[in-house]
This record gives sequence, structure tokens and C-alpha cells, in this order.
Amino acid sequence: MCGIVGYIGEKNACPILIEGLRRLEYRGYDSAGIAVLSGDKIDVKKATGKLAALESAIESCAPEGKIGVGHTRWATHGRPSDENAHPHTDCIGNLVVVHNGIIENYLRLKEELIGKGHEFSSETDTEVIAHLVEEAYNGDLVEAVRKAALMLEGSFAFVVMSSDKPDLLVAARRHSPLVVGIGSGENFLASDIPAFLPFTKKVYFVDDDMIVALDRSSASFMTLDGKSVEKELFEVTWNAEMAERGGYEHFMLKEIHEQPVALRETMRGRMSSENSKITLEGIGLTDEDIRRINKAVVVACGTAYHAALAGRYMLESLARIPVEMDVASELRYREPVIDDRTLALVITQSGETADTLAAMREAKRRGAKTLAIVNAVGSSAAREADGVLYTYAGPEIAVASTKAYTTQMMVIALITLYFGRIRGTISPDRDAELRRRLWSIPEQVDLFLSDYEAVINIAEKYHNIGGFMYIGRGPNLASALEGALKIKEIAYIHAEGYAAGEMKHGPIAMIDPNMATVAFATAGRTYEKLISNIQEIKARSGDIIAIAGRRDEIINNYADHIIRVPETDEMLSPIINAIPLQLLAYYVAKFRGHEIDKPRNLAKSVTVE
Ligand code: AGP
Repeated sequence: MCGIVGYIGEKNACPILIEGLRRLEYRGYDSAGIAVLSGDKIDVKKATGKLAALESAIESCAPEGKIGVGHTRWATHGRPSDENAHPHTDCIGNLVVVHNGIIENYLRLKEELIGKGHEFSSETDTEVIAHLVEEAYNGDLVEAVRKAALMLEGSFAFVVMSSDKPDLLVAARRHSPLVVGIGSGENFLASDIPAFLPFTKKVYFVDDDMIVALDRSSASFMTLDGKSVEKELFEVTWNAEMAERGGYEHFMLKEIHEQPVALRETMRGRMSSENSKITLEGIGLTDEDIRRINKAVVVACGTAYHAALAGRYMLESLARIPVEMDVASELRYREPVIDDRTLALVITQSGETADTLAAMREAKRRGAKTLAIVNAVGSSAAREADGVLYTYAGPEIAVASTKAYTTQMMVIALITLYFGRIRGTISPDRDAELRRRLWSIPEQVDLFLSDYEAVINIAEKYHNIGGFMYIGRGPNLASALEGALKIKEIAYIHAEGYAAGEMKHGPIAMIDPNMATVAFATAGRTYEKLISNIQEIKARSGDIIAIAGRRDEIINNYADHIIRVPETDEMLSPIINAIPLQLLAYYVAKFRGHEIDKPRNLAKSVTVE
């Protein structure tokens, strides 16, 4: 998830672009760059690292000009580096592009363009856009951008500036966000409103498959097939701080709501439809390696560990790979039995968690193949693992991990189906059924997020309770552990996550009117047993908050409160069940008046052991 800005007006563009990028830095910060049209030359400045690196790079040579584009990068293709930083140019530097998204067919386009004599200078998918526009350009920049956009597959929001057109910026959008700011004698393009909020609150929201032509006095819109479109101009009421959180009160709530997009982006380029074969570029394992794996060892901490726990059920039952579970801080000290047929599955949002890195290095030293599931591109885990699969969740700012968790489980599901096909351990029907179910999950999460009043009411009722017990069975044992962690880390209420079948072996002694139980009661092989566990708790005056399928009527007889979720396969249900547990923790913490994004005692990335 990168940040793009464009400016055209009567002021010097450079400081406006830099300030706009600063307000978008939450969208990604492994490199940044700007390009300004100075006279008839485009002056491009880039720097690896946070925005401050770019600012110091241009301190004594800030480009002068009244039109420009800027970019802050969250790398998806190509490691963070000056070469891979945007803006990217055509062969002769006559035009530049900044882009947010993932071009899925960039390799094929790049080969075709190289065949036509184009020379590339980066590993990115974005650079393809610059050369496609160059190839199509014959004096009409809007038409050239339109033709280029028609050839792209995937998600994009990009802005193009040409030295031939000092009074024009042209942009295109599909799936990635793009907004237009309308000022007085100056106009703006950006990934998000905060970038230009100090200058104007008049905004056009650009729709999918749309082209924008922007000059100093107006914006015009057309569809990708060239039809002109009239757009409604909105006036936003947010202040700058609210705008950075997309109008949400906290980053955590914003990131919870970003999960449908994050899940879809994580599938992009790996699964193009519910019937398509799964491809996992970057996995770092041959088919032979995959067939030779005789066990997997999980290397993860906290929420990432819970994602692995949910995934374990899939890997064992569908790919027939035994999975050893241990938090990373324990794994490396227990003399694990690891050899060259062991797969070390390393899961980490930040890619910098010290316990996880240490355990990964230990597993590698003992001969394991390491496959990392990482959100932060170019992080230590991503660089050191034999293979890396990114969760394209975008930067996760809130300490409490949400969209990283669900996209981690999504990647494990993709790995499981990919392995199952290669190892011949999954029937074609089961494989097809799970791909169909997996494909619809982003929409199901979106559906749940459209109405969760029930969760807010439950959070208000129980926000002062003495404690919570979270129970689940099978893959939803992970949901129970994750639910308990979320409540602890932001609401500071004691909570335990337990295998539901364990309750009668001791924990049920804790049940009383001041200990509410959250039960993950979505459909599964052990649903009836979970109902019995709920009955045991009810018999001891414990309140039951059940997370259950929309069509489940049995649960009505046993739960005090029911949070209805869309039905899916039991193996995939922890992805959907994560949303109510995240929202319950968020609203309990909110009713308790807590600082939610930065909870006490916690850090976003634990880089010490
Ligand atoms: C989750 O809400 C916590 N912030 C914490 O458990 C986190 O998941 C853990 O520290 C692992 O972080 P990582 O994914 O960046 O390695």
C-alpha cells in the first residue's frame, strides 16, 4: 500500500509534495521520491528509507517547478532501493509515473517492451507503466494513459506527468484508491485525502476504471473506454488527524475495516478466480522439495502464532504435513528435531521480531527450509528466509494486529491448497470447494463489517466484567487464543483462550456471573460437543456470547448473546471469526476509555528477546 500525490498550480510544487507524502507516510515508508517539471526538464529525486531521507537528499537542491508528483513506497515488487523507488521514467526521462497497486501481468508486458527496445532500470512492476505510456504517446497524453491502462491487469492508481505537457497531470484508477482535490487555481491528486487537506476540502472520489485529466483550473473524467463522465464534488468535514485514519477514530478500527481489501490484495496474483490454479511466486520450494517435506515447524509469536495454529489444521488434514507448534521463544531452546526435510514456517507481520528471527536462524542452522509469511517487504525475515510470501495488507499501524492476522491465515490456506495439489493429498472436489470458499471470503468479511451493531451492544454490556473465557474447537482454538489476546492487550481485562473440551479439566471452576464466555460455535465437526461445553457453562451461571453461523437456530437455545457470521468451511472459519473478536476487543476497550492504538507496555514490533 503506497502513497501517491500530484500537484499542479501556481506555487512551488516541491514542499507541497513533501508535505503530502508526510501525511501519507502511514501508507508505506521504505522509500520515497518526487519529480518536478523545472522548465522543460523533469527533475527526479528519490531516497531509500523514510521520508526524512528524501528531505535531506533534496535539502540543498530542491527542484523548482509548479507541477509535480510524489510517492512513498510500501514495496511489493522489488526490494526497497533508490532504483526501485518511484517516480519511474520512460526511456528518455520525458515522462514520469508514480503508482500504488500490483500489476499482475507486468512480467509479460516488460518482456514485450524490452523486445521493442525499451530499457528498464528497476525491478518494479510500476516501471512498465512509464514505458507503456511512452510507447502509446503521440502527443495526446490522456489517450496514451488510457491505452496503457487498458493493457494492465491487477490493481492500480497512477499519475503521469510529461515534460511535453506542463499544464496537465493524467491519472488512472482500478481498485487502488485515488482522490482529486480541487483548490483555487491549483489542483491535487492523491491516494488519500490527508495529502491535500491543508489546501482544500473539495474532493472528487475517482471510481474504478476511470481516467482523470487535471489542469490548474479543472478536472475531467472518462471511463477506460473513453466515455466522458460527470463527477459529483464533495466537501469533507474531517480534520487532518481524522483524515489520516480515513475518518475512523483509531487506526485499529480503520485496519479492521481494511481487511476485505487486504484479503483480496493478498490473493491477487496468486488466485485470479475461484476456479484458477494457485500460483505462489517467491515460495522458494521446488515441487520435489514440497513432496519431500515430512514435517513443518512453526516459527512465530503472538497473533502470528495464532494464525499458524489455525493454519495447522489445514496443513495437517489437507497437505498431510505434521505441524509442530511452539512459540518462537520456546522453539529454539528445546533442541528441536529438525533436518533438511523440515519446513520452518516463519510468520511475522513486522519481519523484525527478535524471538522469531532467532528461532528461524536456529531452524535454518539445523537444516530446515525456511518459508516466511511477512507483511513488511524487505524486512529481516523476508531477506533471510529461503522463500517469502507477502501478505499485502499494507502497513499495520495499530499495535494490536488485525489485518495481518487474517491475511496470514489467507496465505497459509493458499500454501495448503498449493501443497495439497503437488503432494496429491487433496481430492479435486475438496480442492475446488475450498478455492471457491476462499475466493468469497473478502466479500463475506465485507458483509459482516456492514453491520455489527450486535458486537457494539455486547461490548457495552460487558466492558466492566471481571474476565472473559474464550473457547473453541479445531481451527477455532486459534480464534479462542486470539480473542483472549486482543481483549488483554487493549482492554486490559484478564481473558483465557481454551480448547472447549478442556473446560471440564479445571478452567470451568472459574465460571461465575462475573466471567463471561465467548464461544466460537460456527459449523464444524465438533459443533455438538461445543454445544455441550456451552451447556456445562450455562449450568454454572456463566453468560455465553456465541459467534455462530447466520442460519444456525440450535444456538438460540443456549447462548445469551449471538454474533452472526457468514458461513464458510470450518478450515477457513477462523478468518471470518477474527472480525467479531477484533471488534469486541476494540469496543470493550473504547467503552473503557483506553488509548487503543498504542496500548500500555506494548510495542508494535518486539525487536528484543
Ligand atoms: C498482536 O496483536 C501483538 N501485537 C503481538 O502478539 C504480535 O502479533 C507479535 O509480537 C508478533 O509480531 P510480528 O508478527 O511482527 O512478528
